Amino acid sequence: MRSYPVEKLLFDVVPFDPRAGTFVLAALHATCFPDPWNAAAISALLVTPGTLAYAHDDGFVLARVAGEEAEILTLAVAPAARGRGLGRALLQAVITKAGEMGATSMFLEVGVDNPSALALYAGLGFAKVGMRKAYYNGRDALVLRLSLPAKFA
Ligand SMILES: CC(C)(COP(=O)(O)OP(=O)(O)OC[C@H]1O[C@@H](n2cnc3c(N)ncnc32)[C@H](O)[C@@H]1OP(=O)(O)O)[C@@H](O)C(=O)NCCC(=O)NCCS
Repeated sequence: MRSYPVEKLLFDVVPFDPRAGTFVLAALHATCFPDPWNAAAISALLVTPGTLAYAHDDGFVLARVAGEEAEILTLAVAPAARGRGLGRALLQAVITKAGEMGATSMFLEVGVDNPSALALYAGLGFAKVGMRKAYYNGRDALVLRLSLPAKFA
């Protein structure tokens, strides 16, 4: 694991306030994905019961909790802000909250050709439980699972 200067670990990751508008989240998403979600789509997710959103100026994460199962819907860190621990901080925030809400498992899908995300998830303890063929425009995805509540050092 890389060691970061202390100040880089202190991300101001907070629950996203929908009153701030979702255009900023859509703009971040567009820096990260070839088929980005627009503001209306993100707003629709945010009003769906069980949806969690944590954000920072340079990234955000959306997840959903339904009973004992939680799911990461999307995770985005702007290219210029990567490699400083923000993706991990966003995930830790949402994982902790999902556990507090009673979820016992968290699932996600990740492209087999996304080494940085695969390494991030593995480092947090996610393990492969399945495979979806041609899930992302013809690219295969792995299904990963993490047992909750998860403890972080
Ligand atoms: C995946 C993503 C969220 C990572 O965000 P990030 O802020 O750069 O990640 P962090 O700095 O928190 O890195 C945490 C861990 O992830 C892994 N990681 C991150 N970037 C990496 C890279 N370029 N190469 C290899 N491993 C990497 C490492 O294990 C790292 O831990 P370490 O720093 O102790 O080695 C970011 O690259 C991103 O938004 N990518 C585009 C969107 C995407 O793929 N989202 C996930 C879809 S499933």
